[in-house]
Amino acid sequence: MADNTNIAPVRKAVIPAAGLGTRFLPFSKAVPKEMLPVVDRPVIQYVIEEAVDAGITDVLIITSRHKKVMEDHFDRFPELEAALEAKNKTEALAEILDVTEMCNLHFIRQGEALGLGHAIGMAEHHVGNEPFCVLLGDDIMHRSAGVLKGMIDTYHANGGVSVVGLMEVAKEDISSYGCADAVELEGRTVEVRDLVEKPDPADAPSNLAIMGRYLFTPGIFDEIRRTEPGVGGEIQITDAMVSLMASERMLGWTFSEGRFDTGKKIDYLRCVVEMALEREDVGPAFREILADIVKREQLLP
Ligand code: UTP
Repeated sequence: MADNTNIAPVRKAVIPAAGLGTRFLPFSKAVPKEMLPVVDRPVIQYVIEEAVDAGITDVLIITSRHKKVMEDHFDRFPELEAALEAKNKTEALAEILDVTEMCNLHFIRQGEALGLGHAIGMAEHHVGNEPFCVLLGDDIMHRSAGVLKGMIDTYHANGGVSVVGLMEVAKEDISSYGCADAVELEGRTVEVRDLVEKPDPADAPSNLAIMGRYLFTPGIFDEIRRTEPGVGGEIQITDAMVSLMASERMLGWTFSEGRFDTGKKIDYLRCVVEMALEREDVGPAFREILADIVKREQLLP
């Protein structure tokens, strides 16, 4: 049984959001895909809310030169605040102030999109010698899935080890993800034995895919520094994780639903529809609109 008395708390999160977003062109040419709206807030706001709900108090966003609008979204806007106050729009005022007060928010730029591993490596100085989470800036996890919270609980229950979020996908889809060779432990926890980035389905050790959420011990930074460019010429975090596993345990936390890859057009559309249906304000009217559309489509030859 692990001695859990001296395990460092997980206070910091890193959100890589400096990628080129080539799957969401032309939109993502001038506006970051992390700023795509889901009803009335950008994708990245949901990601930060998930981190804060799981107990994170400090968030570092890895950004790039053409993504300044993300910083503006989380900054104060005194003229707008004054205008809302003058018009007595208290609800809207509270909403825009909440966004600026969610957590201690920091930004750092990745000068060149050299890969996810490289982006995470940019966080080393800020994170220091602490465990930290990584949440991909274009992946929304539904609150009901409790992914980050489940991973942090697993970290604590197992002596402070690294944990990666894993979801089963169809075998033919595994070549789009990092894939884990893992054995079941208890509940949703698995022991990760090996990881392969974007394997051919025929060679994949399982259909467990890495899904945009990681919890690392600070040892990952040494491994990232030593990692050479891998698949696609990018510095892959999966390769650094494999090196880390030579000296440290890595667990997986498995889940089966509630993930939206909003960097992919079709999944973004699914996300907007599902999130809108759940909203008390627009949900009921939107449901009627959708029902009408479905009826009309069914009447088509
Ligand atoms: P993705 O592969 O989903 O993002 O990386 P991408 O490269 O922007 O997208 P496509 O494939 O060209 O459409 C996952 C996350 O890692 C970030 C991305 O912004 C995204 O949130 N990322 C990726 C970086 O921050 N830097 C990089 O060099 C690569």
